[in-house]
Amino acid sequence: APVTSYQAESATISQGVVESNHAGYTGSGFVNYDNVAGAYVEFGVSAAATGPQTLTFRFANGTTTDRPMSITVNGGAAVTRSFPGTGAWSTWQEIAVQATLQAGANTVRATATTANGGPNLDRLSV
Ligand code: GCU
Ligand code: CA
Ligand code: CA
Repeated sequence: APVTSYQAESATISQGVVESNHAGYTGSGFVNYDNVAGAYVEFGVSAAATGPQTLTFRFANGTTTDRPMSITVNGGAAVTRSFPGTGAWSTWQEIAVQATLQAGANTVRATATTANGGPNLDRLSV
């Protein structure tokens, strides 16, 4: 199926700000998570049918410390994924997470799990 991209800067943000001061993002910017546990970005994601999908997060982490985040779909079970250092805040990488979406509207939330907050988040592609 074709890939749809959902920009983080257009998503629902709790404890983060939209910025554009590090090059290489797509869309109009990225979300800079506040450096606190619990900060999140929540995307509204549409699916044609119920079933497994690949959620691909594009991010940058200019530190050498992992910024793990828990990923939840529709408020369900959380899976924690690493968002390791990418070498620079302007170097962006993608990580893929497998998840089951329901037909129609879904929420996909990426929540920082440590006091370092999340990485800078550019987009989610599904
Ligand atoms: C720097 C960087 C931000 C980043 C922050 C962080 O301030 O410019 O984009 O979010 O570090 O460590 O989280
Ligand atoms: Ca930050
Ligand atoms: Ca973006």
